[in-house]
Amino acid sequence: MSLMARIETAIREVLQQQQLSKAPPKLAESLDYALFPGGARIRPTICMSVAMACGDDQPKLTNAASIALELIHCASLVHDDLPCFDDANIRRGKPSLHKAFDESLAVLAGDSLIVMAFETLAKIILQDPNRGTQLLLTLAKRTGVPFGICAGQAWETEDHINLSAYHQAKTGSLFVAATQMGAIAAGQDAEPWFELGARIGEAFQVADDLHDAVLCEEELGKPAGQDDLHGRPNAVTELGVQGAIQRLTDILAGAISSIPSCPGEAQLAKIVRSYAEKLTPVTPTQSTYTFAKMPTTFRTRSQNLSSIVNP
Ligand code: IPE
Ligand code: IPE
Ligand code: MG
Ligand code: MG
Repeated sequence: MSLMARIETAIREVLQQQQLSKAPPKLAESLDYALFPGGARIRPTICMSVAMACGDDQPKLTNAASIALELIHCASLVHDDLPCFDDANIRRGKPSLHKAFDESLAVLAGDSLIVMAFETLAKIILQDPNRGTQLLLTLAKRTGVPFGICAGQAWETEDHINLSAYHQAKTGSLFVAATQMGAIAAGQDAEPWFELGARIGEAFQVADDLHDAVLCEEELGKPAGQDDLHGRPNAVTELGVQGAIQRLTDILAGAISSIPSCPGEAQLAKIVRSYAEKLTPVTPTQSTYTFAKMPTTFRTRSQNLSSIVNP
């Protein structure tokens, strides 16, 4: 079974266990809407890839860890799109959840997904108390305060923000959880896996900032130019496009060498290398950007790009 098929099957299994037919129908429908069709499923992919590189001796634990991560991620997107955060009308190419349903259901769907994530890991504690507890604590640390998504989103309400700390908490945290939970699920020590997750996570957010600045809504499947619109600190305003690309390249350069020694190290290095290539624009000229992750040459948005290329 491909990794993607394994992820989709595991999400469906978790949902089936929730007995959603007994829930208020609109809430049940909104949960399905938040989870399917998915996006890139990059966090569970990384979690499973690390677990497999470490032997994946208990696949049920790996599945639970990966799906719990994706549930938290999807919840964070539902909440992030709400009017009190980014007020975004589109997500993954369709109306964001509060537009398709309403705001109260978006709050409740996000809450339900968060609870479901921790419930999924609590069930694993019954099966393997040691690994299950570590998985739950790791996800909690990377979701809450002071290092998790809640902290990351809260930095947006402060007057002074350190871009790197903001990116690490808002986005990097779930990537750290992804590498560490993959290792824990396979019975390995989490600590050596911190750097790989942190590097991929920070690079991912720099790439997201670049996409936000230069691509259009149709290409993104979500609103473009949001960082500018909301005055959010971001890599492009701080470093310019070329500077942001350099930053992305620098962060990713150390990613391969940070992979801890494990049986599947070579294969994992291949996966990380190919993902790094997908994140990095290959022809960053002033008028066109070719992102390896998509086969087309993107038109830049019609805004005055030269001002962000040469800040
Ligand atoms: C978007 O994450 C939110 C950020 C952290 C920038 P993804 O780009 O992984 O979202 P999906 O799941 O693929 O839609
Ligand atoms: C989203 O960050 C991060 C979380 C949801 C925690 P952004 O607001 O920059 O991501 P997009 O661009 O909406 O996906
Ligand atoms: Mg946001
Ligand atoms: Mg947003």
